[in-house]
Amino acid sequence: PQIRIYRWTVSEIPGPAPNSTRMVVNGRSPGPLIQVSVHDRILVYVTNGLANEGTSIHWHGLPQPDTPFYDGTGGISQCPIPPGATLLYNFTLGGWTGTTWWHGHTGMQHTDGLYGPLVVHAPDEHTSIKYESEEVITLSDVYGTPANTLLNTYLTSNPVETVPEPVPDSLLLNGRGGGAQDRDGGNADGYFEVMTKPGTSTRLRLINAGSFAPLRLSIDNHVLTIIEVDGTPVVPVRVRDLVLQPAQRYSVLVTATPDLPTHVTPAFWIRARMIDEKFAYENLKMEPEARAVLRYTLPDDYTPTSASELGLPGSVPGPPAGDAGARDWDSLPHFDEWTLRPLSAENDDEDANALRKLEDEIDIEAAKRRERPPMHADADLTIPFTFSIQRTHDQNWRSFINETSWEIPPPGEASLVSDLARVGGGEGNFSVKVWPGDQVIAALEYNRTVDFVITNLDDGDHPFHLHGYAPWLLGVGRGRYKPATGHLDLTSPMRRDTFTVPRRGWAVVRIVTDNPGYWAFHCHIAWHMMGGGLFQIAVPPAPINGNSISSGSTTSVPAAILEQCRM
Ligand code: C2O
Repeated sequence: PQIRIYRWTVSEIPGPAPNSTRMVVNGRSPGPLIQVSVHDRILVYVTNGLANEGTSIHWHGLPQPDTPFYDGTGGISQCPIPPGATLLYNFTLGGWTGTTWWHGHTGMQHTDGLYGPLVVHAPDEHTSIKYESEEVITLSDVYGTPANTLLNTYLTSNPVETVPEPVPDSLLLNGRGGGAQDRDGGNADGYFEVMTKPGTSTRLRLINAGSFAPLRLSIDNHVLTIIEVDGTPVVPVRVRDLVLQPAQRYSVLVTATPDLPTHVTPAFWIRARMIDEKFAYENLKMEPEARAVLRYTLPDDYTPTSASELGLPGSVPGPPAGDAGARDWDSLPHFDEWTLRPLSAENDDEDANALRKLEDEIDIEAAKRRERPPMHADADLTIPFTFSIQRTHDQNWRSFINETSWEIPPPGEASLVSDLARVGGGEGNFSVKVWPGDQVIAALEYNRTVDFVITNLDDGDHPFHLHGYAPWLLGVGRGRYKPATGHLDLTSPMRRDTFTVPRRGWAVVRIVTDNPGYWAFHCHIAWHMMGGGLFQIAVPPAPINGNSISSGSTTSVPAAILEQCRM
């Protein structure tokens, strides 16, 4: 393991639209790629260069074992870093590997551009799955108006509007290829290009870092083989396209055909399209599709027949030509995230079949890392909650978890730290108290098996994210969950930190409370989270020598975190 050190400054710069701004790290959005290996130690010095807002950075999907106070969730795991101040995020990765991202988690800063990719490599990555190169693509919807302005408009919007959430102005792939400038087939920044050699495979690590729009991704004439989902290696699935909800990540293998027909331009569109179920395309000021390019680097003995085939700078792919690499396109299954299965010891047969189809590209042994969930939740630890979006008596669109709608605590307060203050813990231990009201914090015991039964009363799908855990996804369905008929999969359920709860439907997910901390559980659509669609689970540290938590605990909060609340 290595120590990786980063020095970041969060600031605001002028955005592409007139009078707009982007929130950036070291001048860029998407911000720096963190690329590390399993068990590395990560030190990120974050300096808040904003004029008058606090900030914090959340490491989405990283479980933060023993360091819940570095989870970066403003008002929950820490008080936001005040303007001018620096906080050192200092944590050691557990065994987590895969594709994820970091983002601002104070107010609407993520929506204004404060995010970037994060990749944790596994040592056996290349022996277990064969591919020659890899590329990270961070996809994001973009708004030209400051997100706080949009949030106010959204919360108080006119009741006759059926879809009140702000509609994005643009969609970018690694900050380029935006639909807004794209109607004539090009834009000033050009397109992000993935280079690939005929006959080789490339792993694309795809991240939806957006705030609102689910995205459908495809590559002209190429099959996508899904191999990793939010850090979980999956039984490989071949698809023609896939959908990324906000905050979800997928790794796909793309194989470049070895025998490219000579009449084909050796470049193909990578297309990402906003899915319009959430809003009417008429409201878009742009093409709902943004693009990048998959470009073949041709072997020396290849004789091109036209300039465009050389892939000269400025040449862009033409319409799909030929059927390179995608002869079985039409027979490919329709993508459904709830049909994904983990590669794990318990589903050998299924794995083996899938793998045979992939012609031994993947070694099962190396990917068997996941275990089964416990068979039952502990008694009385099935926690039902309902998500809804409602207009309140003061005519605001608020999101609700049961009857409550979360609000950010004032700048000097955060659940984890306020817990310390309440119990007089000072610089020391936290114990988990219900604060500021039991309606937004579910206080759990250490090392129990807990089920959450989530009911989505809204007519849209919602991507739910739990910090600190990758829940087992036991079941999903329409209407209300009924234990007698709602099928739960206890044999080979997926584990992932961000999952879709379908419109007017339910999902049941299970965790074992072995990771102490105050953890947010929320819809990852920025408008819904900031409209109140968030609650917290609180898990106390492990009891010492069988004593209860009141007589001692193992997780102490560093002084640097406590200081943020006093500045
Ligand atoms: Cu991506 Cu609450 O986080």
